[in-house]
Amino acid sequence: MYTLQAIEKRRSIRKFQDKTISAEQINVLLKAAMLAPTARNCQEWEFVVVKDRIILNALKEAHPHAQMLSTADCAIVVCADTEREWEDGYWTGDCGAATENILLAATDIGLGSVWLGVYPNQERMKAIADILSLPSKVKPFNIIALGYPDEEKESVERFDKNKIHYERW
Ligand SMILES: Cc1cc2nc3c(=O)[nH]c(=O)nc-3n(C[C@H](O)[C@H](O)[C@H](O)COP(=O)(O)O)c2cc1C
Repeated sequence: MYTLQAIEKRRSIRKFQDKTISAEQINVLLKAAMLAPTARNCQEWEFVVVKDRIILNALKEAHPHAQMLSTADCAIVVCADTEREWEDGYWTGDCGAATENILLAATDIGLGSVWLGVYPNQERMKAIADILSLPSKVKPFNIIALGYPDEEKESVERFDKNKIHYERW
């Protein structure tokens, strides 16, 4: 699939089939994540792959908009080792770029995904850090729920020329 096709096809998928994602598929996603750009090439991201149903359910309980984790086969929690970021705050952009690579790679290999926001909600960050036993220097950025899609969504058109400003606002 070409990049632009994956970008157009990707939608948030919240219903998943009862079908397992292989370790090889997860590695495809993580390889894509780690090819994302980072400020000063710090590559401060860390990824917690969760397959255990008990932990998936705990994550679901810790997040108010994550019901789909009960049918997701897997979740990747994108985190950052903030001691490795370039300057304070850059970790969020770096984790966002890695996240989008995962979403697009998942689309490319026929998987459904949805980005579940964690940062900057301090309560969610703490709950998730506790569940995953994250060291204090490691911050959770989001949860990506993954699975074989059990819903079909059309591509959407969001191009809006009113949001584009040339040279100056
Ligand atoms: C920062 C961020 C946080 C999000 N948090 C959630 C969430 O908690 N639960 C959820 O179901 N979707 C979440 N989403 C997915 C958005 O709802 C979704 O991307 C948006 O509605 C556009 O739909 P699309 O992804 O199908 O294009 C989040 C997306 C982003 C970028």
